[in-house]
Parts: sequence; C-alpha cells; structure tokens
Amino acid sequence: MKTQFEHVSVLLEEVVDFAPEATQAILDCTLGGGGHSKRLLEKFPEATLFGIDRDGFAVKASTECLQRYTAQTRLNQANFSDLPSIFSKLGEPLFDYIVADIGLSSEQLARPERGFSFMQEGPLDMRMDPDHQQITAANLLNNAGEQELISILRNYGEERFARKIVGKILASRHIKPLESTTELTELISSSIPRKLQKKGLNPATLTFQALRIAVNNELQELEDLLKQAPLRIKSGGRLAVISFHSLEDRIVKQQFRKWENPCVCPTDLPYCICGKKSLGRVLTRRPVNASKKEVADNPRSRSAHLRVFAFEKTVS
Ligand SMILES: C[S@@+](CC[C@H](N)C(=O)[O-])C[C@H]1O[C@@H](n2cnc3c(N)ncnc32)[C@H](O)[C@@H]1O
Repeated sequence: MKTQFEHVSVLLEEVVDFAPEATQAILDCTLGGGGHSKRLLEKFPEATLFGIDRDGFAVKASTECLQRYTAQTRLNQANFSDLPSIFSKLGEPLFDYIVADIGLSSEQLARPERGFSFMQEGPLDMRMDPDHQQITAANLLNNAGEQELISILRNYGEERFARKIVGKILASRHIKPLESTTELTELISSSIPRKLQKKGLNPATLTFQALRIAVNNELQELEDLLKQAPLRIKSGGRLAVISFHSLEDRIVKQQFRKWENPCVCPTDLPYCICGKKSLGRVLTRRPVNASKKEVADNPRSRSAHLRVFAFEKTVS
C-alpha cells in the first residue's frame, strides 16, 4: 500500500544548486517526504545518503520515495540530538553536504490527529515523534505553572498577549482540562481584543508555534544540530539550513557568523590573540527566499529562509 505523504519541498532547486561539486556523501537531517534527498540523488547518482527524521511516518514515506536508491541510502528515525551517538556507532562518517529543512512538514500540519493545526479539530498533541515523546501540548497546558506557560508563549511565540492568554487557560483548566485544538483556538481568540488582532494572522498562530517548539524542544535540537555540523563535514563541505520563523533563523544566522569570524579579542587590539580560527564563510549574506512563482504555487514557502555555510576547515 502506498503511503500518502502530503508535502511539497521548498527551495528545492536552490538547495540542490548549493551542493558542493562532486558531492559524494550527503546527510539529510529532515527527510520529511524525501523530496530534497531525491533531487540530490538525481543530481549526484553515485552519492551515498544518510537521512534521519524524528517522525516515523516521515521515515516510512521517504523510504518509499527513495526506493530506487536503497543500495546507497540509510534512513533512520532519530533526532538531531541523537546524531553523536549514531555517528559514533557508524565510525564517525563525514559528509560533503548537510541539509536541514527544519520545522513541520505539510503532512504533519494536515493531519488533525497530530494536533499541530489551529484550523482543524484535533487533540492537543503536537509531538513530532509520538512513538517516543511522552509530553503532549495538552500535558503542558493542563499541568505547567502560570510563569512557565507565560515564558513559553513569550520566548517561543513572541506573543504580546501571553499573560492574558495564560490567564484564560488557567481559568478554563480549573473547570475542565483543555483537550482540543479548536477549544484552545477559541480561548486564545477571546483573550485578544478584536481590534488588536493582526489582519491576516490567526490569533492562535503564535501560541501554537510556541507550544510546538516547547513540546519538541525545537530550539535546543537546532543548537545540537549546529554543534554537530562542523564535526561531521568534510573540508570544502557545506551546510544548508531552511528555517520557517525568526527564532530559528536568528540562531542559524548568529552561528554562521561565529563560524566565519570567531575572534573574541577586543576590537582595539591590533592583532588577534584569542587564536580562534575561521571555519569558512557564509555563502548567503541574506537568506535565500522563495520566488514569487514558488510562493504562488506553494504558499507555505513564503516564510522559508535558506542559509548556507561553506566549511574550509573542519573541527575534529
Ligand atoms: C519541512 S519537513 C522536511 C521536508 C523534506 N525536506 C522534504 O523535502 O520532504 C521537516 C521535517 O523535519 C523533521 N524534524 C524536525 N525537527 C527534527 C529533529 N530535531 N530531529 C529530526 N527530525 C526533525 C520533522 O519531523 C519533519 O518531518
């Protein structure tokens, strides 16, 4: 039986165009439906590809998508934070091109039972890996303290109405536990005065983003991935990251800058004494965004930002 996987890969040609010439070994950290991996293998038919995704359904779908390439691919269900232990078992392999298209797939968003969408009725789940993660969004909403919830909404959603929304959550869960996405959406909508709600933005957007980031520990996972990349890349290799919101994009941008110029000497020193050496250079001064045509064909690509770093040195 064919697994239906609803996802259109974003910035597909751009990701392929940034691959180093004569790429032999690829690491795809976010397989999703396998779209980026497949295009890369079409361009580099001799390459080997190691791919992971924390969502078992995505691993199944990408295995199907990459069926033609079984002999040269190895796909695992894993988190970014699992990479050190996986690679230590595999003998510390190195890659020419590492790709991470982080965030959610359209497939995860489209399935109401996953609880990611404020547009559809579903349980407040939001786990990217329901096979192994225990804590759901409902667990957080119904058990976390007031301050913790406010911090989640502020830090991960930059939600200005965090205090009001959390006030309503506490009042509501006092009567009965919150259970469904639509229940939460209505509660958020009623917490923000209508005239202050942003046009074209569902008032639940930032709270759902914040909860999803918290449930999946997404920012820490991204930091873990960025720690691993310089250890896993060949000299001359590249890392391409696509992010979908400013919190992630900021982390990627700042890390790339540090890799390019890690010197921490005071600016008035005539020469560097800290001894920290550049690992390479940022290839994308500004993030690469989707073209008008791509946005028209796939509106989800509107918020995608691609940044690429070229490593001249590796850290080992
Ligand atoms: C935007 S989709 C990737 C789509 C894919 N590039 C394609 O072309 O079909 C993002 C995927 O990253 C996975 N993901 C997000 N965070 C992850 C993490 N920390 N570890 C492993 N996979 C992760 C999600 O489960 C999701 O399937």
